[in-house]
Formats: sequence, structure tokens, C-alpha cells
Amino acid sequence: MRTLFVTGGAGFIGSNFVRMVLDEHADTTVVNLDSLTYAGNLENLKGYTDNPRHTFVKGDICDARLVEQIVQRHNIDAIINFAAESHVDRSLVEPGVFIETNVKGTLTLLKIALEKKMERFVQISTDEVYGSLGPEGYFTEQTPLSPNSPYSASKAAADMLVQAYGHSWDLRYNITRCSNNYGPYHFPEKMIPLMINNALNDKELPVYGDGLQVRDWLYVQDHCTAIWKVLTEGRPNTVYNIGGNNEKTNLEVVRLILERLGKPDTLIRHVTDRPGHDRRYAIDSSKIMTELGWKPSVSFEEGIAKTIDWYLSHSDWLGRIVSGQYQSYYEQMYAGR
Ligand code: NAD
Ligand code: TYD
Repeated sequence: MRTLFVTGGAGFIGSNFVRMVLDEHADTTVVNLDSLTYAGNLENLKGYTDNPRHTFVKGDICDARLVEQIVQRHNIDAIINFAAESHVDRSLVEPGVFIETNVKGTLTLLKIALEKKMERFVQISTDEVYGSLGPEGYFTEQTPLSPNSPYSASKAAADMLVQAYGHSWDLRYNITRCSNNYGPYHFPEKMIPLMINNALNDKELPVYGDGLQVRDWLYVQDHCTAIWKVLTEGRPNTVYNIGGNNEKTNLEVVRLILERLGKPDTLIRHVTDRPGHDRRYAIDSSKIMTELGWKPSVSFEEGIAKTIDWYLSHSDWLGRIVSGQYQSYYEQMYAGR
């Protein structure tokens, strides 16, 4: 039996990963530490919290004593660190918590992984650490880190700490750098679920600037299978880029959502751009594809249709999130923009 210490497993990608592991890997147990910030939601794990191979702990990755207790109690083989503050726009308003969780929290986990000589430390990073591309070219694992937002700067700092632990001592790590994810349980502060929610409610769709920024979209379950591959077959102390080879402008994505929901393009509203907005992300995934035999299995057309259907059939989940605190967030970010 393998025991994974998953952090941030009540968030978007973490909960998709935990469900995948419990469904598909009967020889694996999961200890899931999540502080349940605004982005963490136990409803994302409905039907899985009672699973005997899953232990959920509410708590902070910065809490060294708690992390130590968890590791004493369970015979952990590997840490997979999803826990993070993850939204660029929030990092532009309130960067401090990004340093706390993304940098100091990662350091807390690294210390224990090293002390306990764990088999592997997998850091879930992002392509945003590489900065922004012009119209041509791709991020490879050799692209120098050049983060542009407080979010991506905090993620790059964490990556460098992980590499420093691997270089200075014998911590066995992997870093995965994935492009933009989409799919079920995505918090509606991020573009795709925000636009779906607004379109469903006939509200304006706030496109930043000219809307010609490019992102490389990957269906979340394909990201999860890539992480599993890296965890179980990845070469130690190696970085793997993960991408969908699926570049779209934001306007293309928004128009597709409107079309599928039968809503008019007149709902699109161009609003003031994000400060320092990265123009284009595009990932070269050839390393993970050739070394580990991973490839995305869900096309964008299929994935966006599945995602929209999921939001339509989970209106209770969405309704509970967009009531309350979310309203004031939306007001703060978008009113008068
Ligand atoms: P998310 O915001 O949906 O989830 C983050 C989770 O971490 C939440 O459940 C939250 O409660 C938890 N958390 C936050 N601070 C914590 C703390 N101090 N201690 C314990 N738990 C804490 O984020 P996501 O989109 O699922 O992203 C997960 C990881 O993947 C992040 O590290 C992010 O940088 C990375 N990533 C995300 C994307 C994407 O498109 N969403 C792409 C590439 C990489
Ligand atoms: P987002 O989902 O925040 O991911 P990231 O900034 O990490 O790539 O945004 C995706 C793209 O959509 C990005 O170019 C910013 C843009 N965007 C909008 O145009 N309007 C919005 O309301 C949001 C949240 C994002």
C-alpha cells in the first residue's frame, strides 16, 4: 500500500486528483491536508470523505507542528503539493498570503519530506513561472524563469526552493509545470467558470483588454493522469512541462461558451485589462510525452462541452459558491471596470 500526503486536495485540481486516485488506484491511500480557504470546498469531495483510504485533515501547510503530526501518524511515501493561493487577480490586490502559502508553506513541507527521507516530493507548479511569450515559440523545461505576477513569482520562488533542497541534500523531487486547466469543480473566479456562470445568468462577460491573449487549455483529468505518471515513473529531480497543445484566444473561448449555451455575443463586454497581463502561454510537452508516454486524451471541443454540462447539472454547487462572499469579491474586482 502506498500512502500519499496530498495538500490542497479540496480545491479544483487537488480534488480531481484525489477522486482519480481513490477510484483508480486501490493500492493507494490519501491523507489530504487543506485549510479550506474560500477556494477549498469539501463538497468537491462529496462521496469520498468516508472512503477508508482517504483521511481529510483541515489545516494549514504552514503549520509545522500539524504537518509533523500527520507524518508521524501516517507512513507517508510522497508529498504532492497542490495547496496554493492560485488566482493572479487576487495576487495583484493582496500578495502577502501568496508568499505565506506558496513559498513558506512549501518550505514547511520540504523540511519534513527531507527529514523523513520520503520517496518523492512532487511540486505542482505552473507554466506561468516562465513569464509571457510573443506570437511564436513554446515554453520548454529549459526556458528561464521570468514570472510577471505576484502569483507566478511566489510559485517560481517555491520551485527554486524545491530545486535547492534537491541540489543541497538528497531530496528526491519532481516539479510539474502545467498550462491552464479547466473542467468540473473549477472555482468561478477563473475565466472559464466565471464566463459560464455569467452567461447562465445573462450577465455581461468581462473580457480583459482586447481578449486576444492566448492560453493553452488542458482538461483537468488529463493534468491528473500526467501527475500520476510523474509520481510513479518520473525521473527524480526533474521538471516536466504539461500542456494541452491547444492554444485559444480568450475571445475564442468566450464565444464558444456563448454558442453552446445559446446566448448572444452581445453579452461580451471588454473591460480594463489586468495590470501586467501575460500575453501568451504555450507549452512544449514533448519531454513528458516521450519519456513517460503521457498525452492529453480530451480535445478542447469535448472538454468544454463536458465542462458546460457539468455546471448545468451542478447548479446547487455553483449557486452556493456564488452567493455570499463571492458577491463582494465580484463587486470589488469588476464594478466600474
Ligand atoms: P485552487 O485555488 O482551486 O485550490 C487550492 C487549494 O489549496 C484550496 O482547496 C485551498 O483551500 C487550499 N489551500 C490554500 N492555502 C492553503 C494552506 N495554507 N494550507 C492548506 N491548504 C491551503 O487551486 P487549483 O486551481 O486547484 O490549483 C492547484 C495547484 O495547481 C496550485 O498549486 C496551482 O498553482 C497549480 N496550477 C493550477 C493551474 C490552473 O489552471 N488552475 C494550472 C497549473 C498549475
Ligand atoms: P485566469 O482563468 O484567471 O487564468 P490565468 O490568468 O492564470 O491564465 O484567466 C485566463 C485568461 O482570461 C487570462 O488571459 C485573463 C482572462 N480573463 C478575462 O478576460 N476576464 C476575466 O474575468 C478573468 C477572470 C480572466
